Amino acid sequence: MNAQVEALLKDQVNKEFYSAYLYLAFSNYYHGENLDGFGHWFEVQAREEQEHAMKILKYLQDNGVKVELEAIAAPGVSFSNHREPLAAALKHEKYVTSLIHAIYKQARESDDFRAGQFLEWFVAEQGEEEKNTGDLIAKFDLLGGDAKGLYLLNAELKNRA
Ligand code: FEO
Repeated sequence: MNAQVEALLKDQVNKEFYSAYLYLAFSNYYHGENLDGFGHWFEVQAREEQEHAMKILKYLQDNGVKVELEAIAAPGVSFSNHREPLAAALKHEKYVTSLIHAIYKQARESDDFRAGQFLEWFVAEQGEEEKNTGDLIAKFDLLGGDAKGLYLLNAELKNRA
């Protein structure tokens, strides 16, 4: 495996676990606000991020790379309204997209075709995650402005798998 691709993928394992931890912090915030549906939505996102981390870890293991697991940074979030975590999630997803694109670019430039193909799933996944978060923000902006709308949206999110 190309050394730079390998280093970036190792770092991405930590970034994906950090994303899980960040979304768990968002989930925690909503549970504290009695918005369990939003809390559940972010729990689901946190689980997906863990799956992303495991997928990359397994890819590295399958390719004979030894991975030293690094510390996961504390998310340290605080919010002053119910919209802020949603906006922060979209900003974070765009950041993760930029990381994935950088690894994909490195894989292509160094003719690491296997890593390139592996990363294509993540390129598509990031598009989906940005869309899902953007859609939730759009819904929040339509409904979240009054208590009844927020209640309905929260109830809808409780059923998301
Ligand atoms: Fe694994 Fe949402 O990026």
